[in-house]
Amino acid sequence: MAGLSRRQLARTLESVDDFSDPAVELEQYLTPPELAAHVLHLASLHGDLERRVIDLGTGTGMFAIGASIAGADRVVGIDVDLDALALARENARAVDRGGDRVRDVDWILGDVTRHPFATAGATAISNPPFGAQRGNRHADRTFLETASAIADVSYTVHNEGSQAFVESFAADKGGDVTHAFRAEFPIDRRFEFHTADRETLEAEVFRIEWDR
Ligand SMILES: C[S@@+](CC[C@H](N)C(=O)[O-])C[C@H]1O[C@@H](n2cnc3c(N)ncnc32)[C@H](O)[C@@H]1O
Repeated sequence: MAGLSRRQLARTLESVDDFSDPAVELEQYLTPPELAAHVLHLASLHGDLERRVIDLGTGTGMFAIGASIAGADRVVGIDVDLDALALARENARAVDRGGDRVRDVDWILGDVTRHPFATAGATAISNPPFGAQRGNRHADRTFLETASAIADVSYTVHNEGSQAFVESFAADKGGDVTHAFRAEFPIDRRFEFHTADRETLEAEVFRIEWDR
C-alpha cells in the first residue's frame, strides 16, 4: 500500500476534518478513519486501487484521500453538496501539506443516485446514507444501484442487519459478495435527535464483484 501500513494510513486519516455544519437530510457523518483504513487496506491487497477509484458520497473526502495516499492514481470523489466538496478539497490539501502525497483527485458535484458520469471498470467505495433516521430503510440501495452500474468491484458500508439485503441485491444483479465484515462506527453527537455524546454503531462492510 504505497509503503504505508494500515495503521499509518489510519493515523494520517485522523487528521481529516469533520463536517462543520453537517446536513441531517444528507446524513453527513464522517467515516471513522480506522474503518476507512481497513477498507482501503483490503482494496489494496486485492489490487482494487489499480483501477479508477470512485468515492460515492465523498463528504469530507475520507475514502478518496485515503485511496490516493494508499497508491491509487485515478481517484474521483462525488458529492451532491458543494460545501462538502470544498471541505474535501481542503482536507486533501492539508493532508498533502502534512507530508502524505495526495495526487490530483477529481472532485465532482453530482447526485450519485442519478450517476451523471459514464465510467466502467472502476472500484466504487462508499459509505452511503443509511436512511435510518428518515424511516427510509435501505436508502443505501440507490448507491448500490450506481455501484453495480459503474464498478467492477465495490466496497460499501451499511448499518447493522443489512447482510441479507446486500446479498440478495448483489445476487439479483449477478454480483458476488466476496467479503463481509463488521466494524465499529462511533458517532459523536451532531444532530438534535442524538441523546448521547458518543454512540457506537455496528456497521457492516461488503466487497462485491459485479458481473460484467
Ligand atoms: C455518511 S456520509 C459519508 C461521508 C464520507 N464517506 C466521509 O467520511 O466524510 C454520506 C455522504 O453522502 C452524501 N450524499 C447524500 N446523498 C447524496 C446523493 N444523492 N448524491 C451524492 N452524494 C450524496 C452526503 O452529502 C454525505 O457527504
